[in-house]
Amino acid sequence: MTVKIAHTPDVQKFFEQAAGFGNDEGSPRLKRIVQRVLQDTARLIEDLEISEDEFWLAVDYLNRLGGRGEAGLLVAGLGIEHFLDLLQDAKDAAVGLAGGTPRTIEGPLYVAGAPIAQGETRMDDGSEADVATPMLLEGVVRGPDGQPLAGATVDLWHANTRGTYSFFDQSQSEYNLRRRIITDAQGRYRAHSIVPSGYGCDPQGPTQECLDLLGRHGQRPAHIHFFISAPGHRHLTTQINLAGDKYLWDDFAYATRDGLVGEVVFREGEQGRLAELRFDFQLQQALGSEAEQRSGRPRALQHG
Ligand SMILES: [Fe+2]
Repeated sequence: MTVKIAHTPDVQKFFEQAAGFGNDEGSPRLKRIVQRVLQDTARLIEDLEISEDEFWLAVDYLNRLGGRGEAGLLVAGLGIEHFLDLLQDAKDAAVGLAGGTPRTIEGPLYVAGAPIAQGETRMDDGSEADVATPMLLEGVVRGPDGQPLAGATVDLWHANTRGTYSFFDQSQSEYNLRRRIITDAQGRYRAHSIVPSGYGCDPQGPTQECLDLLGRHGQRPAHIHFFISAPGHRHLTTQINLAGDKYLWDDFAYATRDGLVGEVVFREGEQGRLAELRFDFQLQQALGSEAEQRSGRPRALQHG
């Protein structure tokens, strides 16, 4: 016999009380959200007949997830971050907003405050010179009319040859493989870096633990993250995912999208193998000053 009580007026009232509906303090918005979370949690417990053991295992899992700082990784791996992109795409389509480089997930590994360079910079600290393939990454940032945008900010970050990121991997130097490049008069940016490797979730971490139980891997193709911004234009959060990577279309975080695949061309230079990647970006017009800004997501700051 299935017993359900979540829908009863007494329990509904109880959750409203727990969500602070009975007082005038606090945040009405958060109260509404918490009430919904409580209602939906209760419904889920009843509908799926969640056992006490399962419930407390989940509570312990959340503790461990937060303790390892992997909540941002899990929401990417479960596709919720990609869902936010799909939802924004649909909202854009509903009001006829279209064009430009597609958006895709930011992921949890951005660090604010990277060094700023005009037009051209080197991104790697040379520590992997003996194992890495040098990469020249360049392109043009354009506006909606196709005209190059001078003075746009290309804020980019990527992993090293082991698939790890500076700051989160304390063995790397500060801001290694993280830079902000201001486009030149022709809208160009140019970065001298190294070819990144794909990212893999920590095999011992709680995100991978969950993915294991879903029968899924926790691997991403090699990729490069970007924030592109320019006055009067809509902020763009996106990534280039590298063609030829075995996980290109099997990305555990679902970030690879049509229009965001970068073709790396390898050639033999005087100093050995060199990779070249050309990628142009196109921004939409900003409909308001808020659209020029990236989301208010809390992010790491190296010197914070
Ligand atoms: Fe990444």
